[in-house]
Amino acid sequence: MSKGKIFSGIRPTASSLHLGNYFGAVANWVKLQDDYEAIYCLVDYHAIIEDYDKDALSDRVLNMAADLLACGIDPQQSILMFQSAVPEHTELAWIFNAITSYGDLQRMTQFKDKSENKEFVSAGLFNYPILMAADILLYHTTVVPVGDDQDQHVELTRGLARRFNSRYGDYFAEPETIHTEAPRIMSLADPTSKMSKSLGEKHFISLFESEDSIHSKIRSAVTDTGLQTDEMSPGVKSLFTLLKLSAPESVYAGFETDYQEGTLKYVALKDAVYEHLVSLIQPIRQRREGMSMEEVRRVLDDGSERARAQAQVTIKTVKQKIGLP
Ligand code: AMP
Ligand code: TRP
Repeated sequence: MSKGKIFSGIRPTASSLHLGNYFGAVANWVKLQDDYEAIYCLVDYHAIIEDYDKDALSDRVLNMAADLLACGIDPQQSILMFQSAVPEHTELAWIFNAITSYGDLQRMTQFKDKSENKEFVSAGLFNYPILMAADILLYHTTVVPVGDDQDQHVELTRGLARRFNSRYGDYFAEPETIHTEAPRIMSLADPTSKMSKSLGEKHFISLFESEDSIHSKIRSAVTDTGLQTDEMSPGVKSLFTLLKLSAPESVYAGFETDYQEGTLKYVALKDAVYEHLVSLIQPIRQRREGMSMEEVRRVLDDGSERARAQAQVTIKTVKQKIGLP
């Protein structure tokens, strides 16, 4: 039986991965490599549609690629590439512009959130999901491992595959989303918002920041929202999620019992989260330190070339199907 096909992407909008990226997506990217033919992509064209630092972009692509390799993406097994090296992504995106409805794009919650209160909203921000659909369908992807903030975009992608197939004849498979057990990691400073680079320093923990800084962010995690309810507060829930992801089951169960019995000390919970998280990411941090950036560049160039060979086949067929000369 042939393996299914994975495609997933990450925006090089910061210099390193954070815990949301790791637990929400990248952990699955690493895990699924054995069972799928996978392509992982630094989506640099998706990074230029909002304010960004042009002098830092190229290094960010390389640094994020290095992070992914340190997390365990194996370039012998999977393709690691960057989007702007394969022009077929933007070519297919233009073609998909023609079959995407304006109304569908207007319904995208990420667009609504990101365009709110902005003085300049680029057409690129609006069209973002079309390029994402092109990324995915260009490789006949069957499975897309992402955090749950991307579900709506993958749903749009499925709709585009259906519309293309019905207008031009069956060609694209409809991809499925796949989630980890933690598809939405929250900010520790504001447990009602998702952990994200765009909210600012205190709202995310990078896999590679200093242990002191990780400790202080966890120690100052918000546990009490001031609302008196019987339910566990979002902040405490978030700490429990991180503990579940990093500590042995018995440690987690111990804290759960303390919580139920009303004897839980937040400081002890926070210190346990810190300790187990740091030991989980320690091997990743070590691999990252020893990485040669020349080697990372070679991996990316090689991966992009292999991806391009596949992409060219798709574009050729698509052009024929839609009647271009
Ligand atoms: P981004 O950094 O927005 O390009 O996201 C890269 C991947 O990480 C996507 O699959 C996102 O869904 C996922 N991701 C980003 N932030 C979080 C989060 N706070 N929780 C879970 N997954 C996330
Ligand atoms: N939109 C995704 C994000 O913001 C990144 C992305 C771009 C992506 N193209 C993709 C994810 C294709 C999965 C598949 O995180």
